[in-house]
Amino acid sequence: MPGGGFDLIHARLVLEHLKAPAAAAAKLASALAAGGWLVLEDADGLGFDAEPPVKALSAITGPWHQAALAAGWDPLYGRQLVTDLHAAGLDQVAGRAHRSYQHGGDAWAGTRLGLQRMGDQIRHAGASCADLDEALAALADPARIILGAPIVTAWGRRTS
Ligand SMILES: C[S@@+](CC[C@H](N)C(=O)[O-])C[C@H]1O[C@@H](n2cnc3c(N)ncnc32)[C@H](O)[C@@H]1O
Repeated sequence: MPGGGFDLIHARLVLEHLKAPAAAAAKLASALAAGGWLVLEDADGLGFDAEPPVKALSAITGPWHQAALAAGWDPLYGRQLVTDLHAAGLDQVAGRAHRSYQHGGDAWAGTRLGLQRMGDQIRHAGASCADLDEALAALADPARIILGAPIVTAWGRRTS
């Protein structure tokens, strides 16, 4: 990381992939200038849904989560962000979550790629081929609205 003194540092969906995300948050906080803000965003689970509903999306959530943990990715790290920003010594710490609501298709191409790339591990963790295929089809279906998994945005300010 380049030297400190930053007014704003932002990382989205990165810390949840690191072995020691709290230590990374503390390191980023230490690189802030006085008055600077650290804004971190990470997932709060893999709870995708759809309208009209698709049972396969909830059926693969558990196996997907297990496969993610085995690969060194903690998809629940988002709910630790506020705790870790406090522990990093920042002030004015708070957070909120959002879900993206978008038609199936291009908006979910990255999610589909990730699922396909981890497909063997997700099946190994207990998902059926049929559920995985159905979930992938739903994410590509422009006739459905896909409700993305919650993403937490949390922030804190270095005041001294
Ligand atoms: C889900 S992508 C998010 C990409 C981008 N920040 C965004 O929000 O669209 C996860 C990112 O974490 C990065 N990443 C994963 N492990 C990392 C590590 N050990 N050190 C640095 N970056 C890492 C990957 O290179 C990838 O860019």
